[in-house]
Amino acid sequence: MTDGSQAHKTLFCRTFIETHRTFDPAALPWPELDANTIDRLRSIPFWSVALAAEQNAGVMVTRFAKTLIDPQIREAMAMQGVEETRHGRLLEVMLERYGIDVAKRPPIPADGRERAFIDFGYEECIDSFFGFGIFGLARKIQLFVPELTDIFEVVLLEEARHVTFFVNWIAYERARRGRGNPAFTAVATGLGYVRAVKRIVSTFAPGAQDAPKTQGVGFAAEGAFALLDGITWRSFLASCVSGSEHYLSGMPKGLLVPRVLPEMAKLALKLPTRSKMLRISTRPTSTAS
Ligand SMILES: [Fe+2]
Ligand SMILES: [Fe+2]
Repeated sequence: MTDGSQAHKTLFCRTFIETHRTFDPAALPWPELDANTIDRLRSIPFWSVALAAEQNAGVMVTRFAKTLIDPQIREAMAMQGVEETRHGRLLEVMLERYGIDVAKRPPIPADGRERAFIDFGYEECIDSFFGFGIFGLARKIQLFVPELTDIFEVVLLEEARHVTFFVNWIAYERARRGRGNPAFTAVATGLGYVRAVKRIVSTFAPGAQDAPKTQGVGFAAEGAFALLDGITWRSFLASCVSGSEHYLSGMPKGLLVPRVLPEMAKLALKLPTRSKMLRISTRPTSTAS
């Protein structure tokens, strides 16, 4: 149902709005952590980037929502703005609670244009795919106590809703504007991912640590390298695929879900194994502050 119909719009907007959960990050059941666990958390190098990314995303999505005319889409979009802002708050609460200092990055001027939201949407599709994989592995090896992983799970569930909302919204908008034919959609989607990958590559470029980040570009992948020493690309990709299926499987029939990365990863997993040559051996080398 990607024909630009009212029924599709109502389904993806109502699904998003009705699955919104109300909670205060400060009131979540934050567990007591021992010094080793706090040190492990502190050693993760992406907190500063993640915090700025969520805060910037909150402002950008909220601003974009205000430009929208359609009341259903505006309501859902505004709710995503609330959730991104709350992700920033949740990180702030966690860092404060466990005494983790991070460098404050200056807010970047919020760009509330449609192009900014589209770029953000593709980047979220990539970040969430890697995020599902990272936290699947983290849970498996019990990197953190279950109570803390459960809190991260809340964010992952929201990111699954965000990417589902995005792929349906963009399909609806393309169809509504007469650009819904498969050839145009394939090219536009490909370009969207290429732009997103370019931004992710720039995250890893020398000096990128100091560059301003508009969204969560690449921090999920960066986090995998920092957290999970010695994993293979194969096990990482397999975890991304199963995590993606897990978090997106609950979406109602009739909604699109992101498929590009899971399908590419499944293809990659069919290639002959060379895992010894692809071992990730990067250890955290710096603190977040
Ligand atoms: Fe977020
Ligand atoms: Fe999000």
